[in-house]
Amino acid sequence: MKFKNLLALTFLSVSTIAFVNAQQKLNPEIEKKIDVLMSKMTIDEKVGQMNQYNGFWDVTGPAPVGGTAEQKYENIKKGLVGSMLTVRGVKEVKAVQKIAVEQTRLGIPLIIGFDVIHGYKTLSPIPLAEAASWDLKAIEKSAEVAASEAAASGINWTFGPMMDISRDARWGRVMEGAGEDPYLGGKIAAARVRGFQGDNTFKSPLRIAATAKHFAAYGFGGSALEYNAAEIGTNTLYNQVLPPFKSAIDAGLRSVMTSFNTINGVPASGDKYLLRDILKNKWGFNGFVISDWASIREMIFWGYSKDENAAAKSAVEAGTDMDMEGGIYVPYLIDLVKQGKVKQEFIDDAVRRILRVKYELGLFDDPYRFLDEKREKEIIGSKANREAVLDMAKKSIVLLKNDNNILPLKKSGQKIALLGSLAESKNSPLGSWRIGSDNNTAVSVLEGLQQYKDNALNYVKGLELTKTEPTFLTEVEYNTTDKTGFEEAKKAAKEADVVVMVLGEHGFSSGEARTRTNLDLPGLQQEFLEEIYKINPNIVLVLNNGRPLTISWAAEKIPAIVEAWQLGTETGNAVAQVLYGDYNPSGKLPMSFPRNIGQVPISYNHYSTGRFTNKDNNVFWSHYSDVDKTPLYPFCLRIELY
Ligand code: NOJ
Repeated sequence: MKFKNLLALTFLSVSTIAFVNAQQKLNPEIEKKIDVLMSKMTIDEKVGQMNQYNGFWDVTGPAPVGGTAEQKYENIKKGLVGSMLTVRGVKEVKAVQKIAVEQTRLGIPLIIGFDVIHGYKTLSPIPLAEAASWDLKAIEKSAEVAASEAAASGINWTFGPMMDISRDARWGRVMEGAGEDPYLGGKIAAARVRGFQGDNTFKSPLRIAATAKHFAAYGFGGSALEYNAAEIGTNTLYNQVLPPFKSAIDAGLRSVMTSFNTINGVPASGDKYLLRDILKNKWGFNGFVISDWASIREMIFWGYSKDENAAAKSAVEAGTDMDMEGGIYVPYLIDLVKQGKVKQEFIDDAVRRILRVKYELGLFDDPYRFLDEKREKEIIGSKANREAVLDMAKKSIVLLKNDNNILPLKKSGQKIALLGSLAESKNSPLGSWRIGSDNNTAVSVLEGLQQYKDNALNYVKGLELTKTEPTFLTEVEYNTTDKTGFEEAKKAAKEADVVVMVLGEHGFSSGEARTRTNLDLPGLQQEFLEEIYKINPNIVLVLNNGRPLTISWAAEKIPAIVEAWQLGTETGNAVAQVLYGDYNPSGKLPMSFPRNIGQVPISYNHYSTGRFTNKDNNVFWSHYSDVDKTPLYPFCLRIELY
């Protein structure tokens, strides 16, 4: 108790965020309906609402515990399931929704969740790339497009936006966020919430509920290791980690997902201070909290909960309202309440929140309102959506360097050699989170450049990036041995006026569980680049990557560098328009690029130090002995073609 008081005082002095007693507004009509419905519900049915199962095919985590499709269907019938994730497509969603609505005692509809992270079928740039646009209207539009396609596919709720601030490019999930700055991150978080949820009335069947994730401090996991502990102080928590979440809640956000990490030893799904005290009480958040995949169960492996009963009790008391694929609430919580070990009021609070969002989404008025096969066909992949993601893709590109005005390329009379297997890839540019989309559907850089027909374009792969084509579930294995294409590439470079090299990371190299300990160009790419440079230094390096890379050699030698991230479905068109000067790139880095791996974590908004400058011209100041302490390319860096 004493310790808590002390903390409260510290918080007051470092930040005011937690102490703004706000309340999201309630709709009294809906509250009355919830009262009536809850008065009819048994404890089993209530806890059932708090249970979410994975669907029947895609997996986005360790093996699901919900059982076979038949067992899941049985449990839906018994009223023991409140939500499903990764079910998609009007036909499939209708099949499960019908069971919930027509075969359960109370007919409570399911809420269908899905990871709509940077688009559903038509893919936008990865979120970090979108952040580079600093264009809130375009980002909002991109989320709106994603929401419309997801909704048309029967989905009610996305697990996005991700708003974890991180200063550590080793962490693969930086691709999902908005970079290192909590202020920009907060603005972007709110824009994305607006894009997904619209005016928060859900009158339109093309808007879906959004989720702020991962609450909290997931971007501060030790050593950038995935699913790891975060040891952060109160200043970092309040001034770096929490602001985007607060901003999303103020925008009317309807759900929050807990993170996999601990903070100071407490797993987020059992962290009462975060979930109940700050989020629900101080901030007045009245939507619901979902655990991340099996994270309630994982509290046992953290050594925090002694068994499933303890994990269920801690999580519900802390304020985690729904259990995603943990198989903990239904089997344990019902008995815990019956035995008087968990108070009914915790269950009632959780169920009320979940039902509230279902009512708000209009699922009780018409559980099939999202389920219209005609609309599904019209909206998904529409021309308008392609145009919107192309606009977003162009706005996301950052020109890092352009010496001697090597860019823009001339529209005719230039001989261009295009090198690197990423140039022809239609898969990697789609990025990492795209389970609702189809492989190999991006416009490649090659296809984009081929549209400028008055130039001689010679594409030579030169280097295969990976040993095999990776997937969402597999590790990316880079080619570290096969240089057989080098000679042909050198020949092409020799004959060219300008060499365009598309290098970087495969789209599946970033994202969840993709931490790297080395941020150099992976595989043989650095060697490839240097070999070509010896033959023809007139190189435009187009980078494809999901995080800042360490490219000091290229920054020094290569005349033009274009940061093109993974730009989604319209990648090739966006890159070609920028290279040819039909679009003047205006992106600014949302995350610092380190000079070498030893500099991370790195960010512009670090504290000063007591010895920040070398005023005495001796060694006793805050610096590195072997490299300048500034980033290679700083946060907000921007140059333009014209
Ligand atoms: C785990 C991820 O951490 C989370 O972001 C995602 O929404 C869930 N899996 C569901 O796929």
